[in-house]
Amino acid sequence: MSTAAKPRRLIVASNRLPVVLSQHGEGGDWRLERGSGGLVTALEPVLRERGGVWIGWPGIEKGKVTNIDALLARSTAGQGYEVKGVDLTARQRDDFYLGFSNQVIWPLFHDLLTQCNFDPRFWKTYRNVNAQFASRIAGEVREGDFIWIHDYHLMAVARDLRSAGVAQPLGFFLHIPFPPLDLFLTLPWRYRILDSLLAFDLLGFQTARDRRNFLQCLEHMAPDVDVSGDGRVQFVTVGDRTVRVGVFPVSIDFDEFAVTAQSDDVSERVAGLRSEFLGRTMILGVDRLDYSKGIPHKLQGYRLALERYPDLRERVTLVQLVVPSREDIPEYFQMKEEVERLVGQIQGQFTRSGWVPIHYQYGRWDRTELIAHYRAAGIALVTPLKDGMNLVAKEYCASSLEGKGVLVLSEFAGASAQLQDHALLVNPHDVEGIADAIYRAFMMSTAEQQRRMQELRQIIRDTGMDWWVDTYLAAAAADGHGEFSDLETTRPQVPPGFLETEDDLQS
Ligand code: ADP
Ligand code: G6P
Repeated sequence: MSTAAKPRRLIVASNRLPVVLSQHGEGGDWRLERGSGGLVTALEPVLRERGGVWIGWPGIEKGKVTNIDALLARSTAGQGYEVKGVDLTARQRDDFYLGFSNQVIWPLFHDLLTQCNFDPRFWKTYRNVNAQFASRIAGEVREGDFIWIHDYHLMAVARDLRSAGVAQPLGFFLHIPFPPLDLFLTLPWRYRILDSLLAFDLLGFQTARDRRNFLQCLEHMAPDVDVSGDGRVQFVTVGDRTVRVGVFPVSIDFDEFAVTAQSDDVSERVAGLRSEFLGRTMILGVDRLDYSKGIPHKLQGYRLALERYPDLRERVTLVQLVVPSREDIPEYFQMKEEVERLVGQIQGQFTRSGWVPIHYQYGRWDRTELIAHYRAAGIALVTPLKDGMNLVAKEYCASSLEGKGVLVLSEFAGASAQLQDHALLVNPHDVEGIADAIYRAFMMSTAEQQRRMQELRQIIRDTGMDWWVDTYLAAAAADGHGEFSDLETTRPQVPPGFLETEDDLQS
């Protein structure tokens, strides 16, 4: 890890912590589990390597466990950083986490306006939980610290920190997309959110598209602000303050995946999977249960591939892991039912003696199981309708030790801006396109697979977790002009014949 940007102690705050407390059965034992999701995957190695304090919600109701901090300290002992809990009541959890965060901001920022529930009660609780986070952070902070706030749960924290007298630099990073102007305008608290975000000193987005959306909202809604610069970091002048607004695609610890993929445990499991799938290509899907992940579209694409290309039958198997998530929200529960109904239909339609088309699992895999599947899979199907980044796509490539395998990637995953030239890009709403991409991946020569995978791995290695943190912290530092060029924006795949002249078409 580079030491250039190391001097400040990091105070990181996010709703999710690396560990989640859960009770097994009413009155049962309390257990600590690893938090799932891309935010934890990205931040945990950063804190482990750089040290600091991580403040967040341990996932349980206030008062259920006394002395949570001691429990959290024990669970992360020896990791090189401290974890501090913010207690939420059951009502706060409902209105702040399940409500405003996951029934207002999450669907809206993933362009799914019809899934939004703009209940005014949610906003009030969001404000007071953000204030509670701010006072917890203010109690920890020391001179010289850098305070780095993560994700959509905590967009309103900066104003409260300033009111509490905190003068340290404040950075924010949004792990999810930022919506286009017309969608953002539907949010009843649109000015309050923009105003809160502008209290940070540095705002980080995943892609140039997200930043462009944010700046368009700002320019439309606050015409007095001035935007300058055109590189990785741009500058927004608001009165006498300047807010930096940058693009920093989040990443993974490439080496950790590559090294674990070579371990004995993983190699042994890979051998087991290869003999189980002998002569068949494993197509892998790993998604949190979420409507933004487009799991039904993916299944429909797979079904169409089996219908359209009969030579795929008995020669491919889709292994689909769905990781439980936000199960108390009705839309999530309904999504599970829809996915399972579709899986059942596809099994019923295609299963033959000795072959089932889908191995479906609803649950969690440990690290060995996950990385072994990445390494053994010949195709990864990563087809979210919209995603801030999608780290599964990067983890798959990092774990592909043999340098083969094909990444089929949604053009609406943030990762596509970086990986579009070497992945097979698909529009996840186009089930025929998904079906064709599956077949193309299946038919791809080993040489082409290796060439593409090598390029993908190189990009992910070069812009790994160290690069992400260093680039972000350099942008937050005094002059803010580091290496700030080469921003990629995803281009849709142009179909053959598009805009060709009559003559071209006839020739
Ligand atoms: P999201 O953050 O929306 O869930 P990402 O693809 O960015 O989507 O991140 C998902 C993360 O969850 C990946 O880092 C993946 O390795 C991790 N993950 C997948 N399965 C599990 C699991 N069973 N337990 C913990 N983490 C998991
Ligand atoms: C996404 C969000 C994270 C969140 C994760 C898991 O990656 O950007 O902030 O932690 O999903 O969701 P959960 O609701 O379980 O925290």
